[in-house]
Amino acid sequence: MNITVNKSLPLKGSIEIPADKSITHRAFMFASLTKGKVKVTNYSKGADCLSTLKIIEQLGCKIEILNDKELIIDATNALKEPSSPLDCGNSGTTTRLMMGILASQNFDSELFGDASLSKRPMKRVIAPLEEMGANFNHNDFKLPLKINGSELNGIEYNSPLASAQVKSCILLAGLNAKGTTKFTEPYKSRNHTELMFEYMGADIKVENNSVIVNKSQLKPCDITVCGDISSAAFFMVAALIVPDSDIIIKNVGINETRAGIIEVLKAMNGNIKLLNERIISGEKVADIQVKYSQLKATTIEGAIIPTLIDEIPVIAVAATQANGTTIIKNAQDLRNKEADRITAVKVELQKLGADIEETADGFIINGKKDLIGNTTIECYHDHRIAMSAYVAGLICKKPIEINEFQWVDISFPEFLDLMKAISTYK
Ligand code: S3P
Repeated sequence: MNITVNKSLPLKGSIEIPADKSITHRAFMFASLTKGKVKVTNYSKGADCLSTLKIIEQLGCKIEILNDKELIIDATNALKEPSSPLDCGNSGTTTRLMMGILASQNFDSELFGDASLSKRPMKRVIAPLEEMGANFNHNDFKLPLKINGSELNGIEYNSPLASAQVKSCILLAGLNAKGTTKFTEPYKSRNHTELMFEYMGADIKVENNSVIVNKSQLKPCDITVCGDISSAAFFMVAALIVPDSDIIIKNVGINETRAGIIEVLKAMNGNIKLLNERIISGEKVADIQVKYSQLKATTIEGAIIPTLIDEIPVIAVAATQANGTTIIKNAQDLRNKEADRITAVKVELQKLGADIEETADGFIINGKKDLIGNTTIECYHDHRIAMSAYVAGLICKKPIEINEFQWVDISFPEFLDLMKAISTYK
């Protein structure tokens, strides 16, 4: 599906952001380990989470869809050996977290994915899992791979990466391993696994950047998933850069290990207010008011990077409109996402007229540049590149085309409807 994006009138009104992708994956997978029934309310309907749901069904869970917002996962007879290979689609989270679950089962399984996922690095989880006693057949640490279920032993692992996927994989393996597993990361990555483990009664302890887990059984309990800050990010930046905008984005998860974008956009002089702060299933949630602002440049590096890693493409769009030079460093893992997001963002924003250069681990962006548009954007089969380009298109002087925009369905099938809801075109 190719779409055209035109220069936007002010964005106004209020929208509710759909459920968080990271938390939905965890709700589905952790429910599959409870041996009981879990009701999940407000789950993500993106293709990535549906890949996870299909896999837990193949592993013996019964799924009952109650209505548009709720489903029940009955894991009474799970997990059991799947009769066919498990399709992770485009989803790195599905792959890496499921590897942590499947490595310790008393059956074998096989994972595969689409062309993009089959190029992504899995050594980051294979190496520590092998240290725990896991057994894989793989080709150069990539999908497809076979998992020979084995009994695992706890380890102490110092991860070179601050990655929630690696951390969650090892903690899931540790939940079913002999002894204690301790995972330490250089900076704190998103902690949804730790919070949901606590919520579901796992034997877990958090000490600074370390998490310690002992073999334990997750208890069935109902989970309500809050809205996805990574999806809200596109609307936050859109409202900041489209003159005279004023919107409210409701029900957004603001967990501090995820919400680096709020801190950065505020430091850039963004007019952002958190309203009605509350806790839902162990996660902090707020409604967010965002108004058009004269942005100024900033530097983004170090410990904040893992807390906004998925938002960097759209932060780069904001930086094209900020006064001064924005520098983004230490984000080299962006090259290992659904696409090489450093090169993709640079190439596509340059096409629109932005002054942006790539470095090995980030960007240098000279802001206050009018975006011209009048070009066709590629999204590299990457949902976040597609949506970042859309946001940039809202301020281009001339319309832009975006090829293969259907990739947004990976995380955010509701994106265009919500954009329409705050548009003031009549
Ligand atoms: C995720 C962690 C991040 C993020 C991804 C989702 C998760 O990946 O980019 O979209 O749900 O744990 P890394 O852990 O590889 O940084």
